[in-house]
Amino acid sequence: MKLNENFKNLKESYLFSSIAAKVAAFSREHPEKKILKMGIGDVTLPLAPAVVNAMRAAAEELGNKQTFRGYGPERGYDFLRERIAAHYRELGVSLDTDEIFVSDGAKSDLGNFLDLFDRENTVLVPDPVYPVYADTNVMAGRKIVYANACAENGFLPMPDESVDADIIYICSPNNPTGAAYSAEQLAEWVRYAKRKNAVIFYDAAYEAFVSESGLARSIYLAEGVRECAVEFCSFSKTAGFTGVRCGYTVVPKELVCGGLSLNAMWLRRQTTKFNGVSYIVQRGAEAAYSEEGKKQIAKNIAAYRENAGEICRALDRLGVFYTGGKNSPYIWLKCPGFSDSWAFFDYLLENAGVVGTPGCGFGANGSGFFRLTAFADQKTVREAMERFAALFG
Ligand code: MLT
Repeated sequence: MKLNENFKNLKESYLFSSIAAKVAAFSREHPEKKILKMGIGDVTLPLAPAVVNAMRAAAEELGNKQTFRGYGPERGYDFLRERIAAHYRELGVSLDTDEIFVSDGAKSDLGNFLDLFDRENTVLVPDPVYPVYADTNVMAGRKIVYANACAENGFLPMPDESVDADIIYICSPNNPTGAAYSAEQLAEWVRYAKRKNAVIFYDAAYEAFVSESGLARSIYLAEGVRECAVEFCSFSKTAGFTGVRCGYTVVPKELVCGGLSLNAMWLRRQTTKFNGVSYIVQRGAEAAYSEEGKKQIAKNIAAYRENAGEICRALDRLGVFYTGGKNSPYIWLKCPGFSDSWAFFDYLLENAGVVGTPGCGFGANGSGFFRLTAFADQKTVREAMERFAALFG
């Protein structure tokens, strides 16, 4: 018996598990201290009533002999995939429903999609970015090269012809920096991917937060993209499904490599290793696209945007450098007075009881940076920024 020794090359625990463990230890030592959590990007507002009603009705259906259902269709129910396709049409993108695969979330699919690729491929990952992209490839033993995101390029790295890659990760709006690409910039990545015969993994989990015109909410807005990009998205940050679990992946039929269709391969992989998302959850996701559901969800997103504005205004008053907040629920700030993000994390926790995410957890370029999330109660955000101002004002 031989284990996958690539695991030795991973950090001991996943970023957000390490933070949770540190905060739990601090709370045990200081039970009297009120902790304000703005670390992991987990939603705090309840599900939209339209979603709850649809899930309740679906549960009733399953409890009735006439309307009971067992296994669902492999790619997800038509009723949901048709709604997702309609959502893309509103963005200006035309998709066939059999290019859409419903899943239990973007994180699982981002990791699982790698099953389709050889271990010898080189992956290009932005730095900083969501740690799942690098970690899943470290587990597989793939070579990783990084695209540097920094203040000088607006945290939006563009292709470097001298770098060769087979799989290219793009997260826009970016987690953690909040920087978002335009369709023209994405088209440049598409041209680069085609020259390199590479595939783009595009993570659109935060697309609902794009508020500035001219920024893309899908990579499929870029020209010539259907032969080279897969898009991952989720209801987590849009409809508050972090605990409910539902997402989807788009695999265009033109994506063919060495005679193999990625759409067919992904279907084969999913039908073998995955039995789909529950009917109740898919009905809830469908309701997120109803007129009522859309209005209720827009209200929640507006509340998170308001929180982001509150954080930005507090940092403006303090003269702290930051990005994000406009097209993203995340605010990416330069640690005031600290060059080590974990030291800043400890200082902020111990002296203000505020939890954020150390920038270095998203990559080497995140050193000296820190992420705050707007996914929190308004009261928490206000109090946290008051405590922040008292420390750094
Ligand atoms: C984050 O805080 O970056 C996200 O919540 C992580 C995730 O979506 O898995």
